[in-house]
Amino acid sequence: MYKEIQHFLGQSWTDFQRLFAESLSTDIPLLAKANRFILDHGGKKLRPTFALLIAKALSGLCNERVVSCAAAAELLHTATLMHDDVADNAPTRRGVPTVMALYSPTTAVLLGDFWLSRAMNLIIDHPDKRVLHIFSKCLGDLAEGEMLQLEKAQRADTTEEDYRRIIYSKTSSLFEAAIVSAAYSVEADADTIDSCRRYAYHIGQAFQMMDDILDYSPELAIGKPVGQDLLEKKVTLPLFGLFARAPKSVAREIRRRLRNPDPELVPDVFALVSQYDALDYARQRLAVEIRQAEEALAPLPASEAKDYLLKMAAQMAVRTA
Ligand code: IPE
Ligand code: IPE
Ligand code: MG
Ligand code: MG
Repeated sequence: MYKEIQHFLGQSWTDFQRLFAESLSTDIPLLAKANRFILDHGGKKLRPTFALLIAKALSGLCNERVVSCAAAAELLHTATLMHDDVADNAPTRRGVPTVMALYSPTTAVLLGDFWLSRAMNLIIDHPDKRVLHIFSKCLGDLAEGEMLQLEKAQRADTTEEDYRRIIYSKTSSLFEAAIVSAAYSVEADADTIDSCRRYAYHIGQAFQMMDDILDYSPELAIGKPVGQDLLEKKVTLPLFGLFARAPKSVAREIRRRLRNPDPELVPDVFALVSQYDALDYARQRLAVEIRQAEEALAPLPASEAKDYLLKMAAQMAVRTA
């Protein structure tokens, strides 16, 4: 499906890909080599896909400013992944070793900073100052989200409300920056911007919920190891499902063990998640986000791009990578 959409986007997709890669040019050999490695093992490029589709749905085309916003979003996303992998001490991503495992944590931090600076370069001259504002806000949100997650993990007392704030900050805020900046770039009116913002919010929440479900789904997840969230003491949606459905004593015991994960924690929790059908609870909440994302698009005029935006919303519940 992603390939089909890229084909639909045609020249805009090609322009995005070119700008994305060209933005990283450098004469430092080590930096160029590490950049090449990441470019050769790219991700799904969902945020630029959404940005370009929104612009097409709103105006029928993607101007240069939209393409810059799309590339900035992917650069920023990749930068945060490199930093996140240091924070999470993650060995693999996209089916290959992480930069921090392959080179060093220092390299991953510096490389992330470099990608971040190139993202900013793409938007500083955007004629609509709101674009710079939304990306800058997003950067702050990402750091706040990761910090709040860290704080909550140390205390093992995350509530479902905290969880929603964390995933908005660390994930949805970037979907919002990508999608809303594209809408700004085609001079959408205030009501339309509002619809795009709501769509982005629910897509982002659904996307991270699915990421968290995949972390509990060894039979589905592709490219990333499973069980990591528990080891990182992250309380995510499947665990809230378990806490809601299992007896209180089970929930208390799991919270206690989370403070100091033992080798049996992951298999034990996976067994309980299956016994109490906790993933069903998580999937129900995910389905609500998807429905809200679809509803947010209702005011947009019918178009092929809008159809793809609706399909992308549905995809959030079935994706495996
Ligand atoms: C991973 O995002 C980080 C999260 C917000 C869960 P993606 O799954 O979009 O990462 P890539 O770029 O496709 O690898
Ligand atoms: C998303 O959280 C990370 C970022 C927003 C950078 P995760 O820690 O769950 O992402 P993965 O699972 O490592 O991709
Ligand atoms: Mg991580
Ligand atoms: Mg994850």
